[in-house]
Amino acid sequence: MKAFLAIFAGALILSSCMDQYNPLPYWKQFSVERQTTSNKHAKLTDKGELPPKEVAVADADPVSAKFSSLCSSCHGVDGQANGAAAVAMNPKPRNFHDKAWQAKVDDTHIMKVIKEGGAANGLSGTMPPWGGVLSDDDVKGLVAKIRDWGK
Ligand code: HEC
Repeated sequence: MKAFLAIFAGALILSSCMDQYNPLPYWKQFSVERQTTSNKHAKLTDKGELPPKEVAVADADPVSAKFSSLCSSCHGVDGQANGAAAVAMNPKPRNFHDKAWQAKVDDTHIMKVIKEGGAANGLSGTMPPWGGVLSDDDVKGLVAKIRDWGK
């Protein structure tokens, strides 16, 4: 019995030691690094993985990043009011490609609705107020983005 236990413990210690010298993770990291050394913007995470895509997008255009994280679920990634949550909504979120609507409203109104939400402006309360989350510059950027879709 004692001998059996000794062998068992020995095997356990040996296998945990071997684990320490397992070269596989290092090879994996090495091969990832080899593939990405030519990409100057991609910094590997501490775990040796590629960085998430969102980070790269956020760096490129902060307004688009805000729109896709805060607005696109209802207004759609392209501002066409076809976001996943829009299907069941009545009234539907505004389609920013709607030229008639674009002609009807001024920038001040769009800014006001974004900051104060729908309810405070006689519109649907489904449109949330964002004044507490977004700075004035963020809101101005979003207004410009919305206007671009009307061109
Ligand atoms: C939970 C869903 C939802 C989210 C998230 C949302 N909206 Fe809306 N939004 C709506 C709905 C619904 C309307 C339509 C209100 C109406 O017509 O009564 C609307 C309308 C609008 C309008 C048009 C106001 C008008 O005069 O017709 C603007 C501009 C707008 N949203 C901007 C934004 C921006 C910018 C964001 C992100 C910061 C955002 N919305 C996030 C649901 C949403």
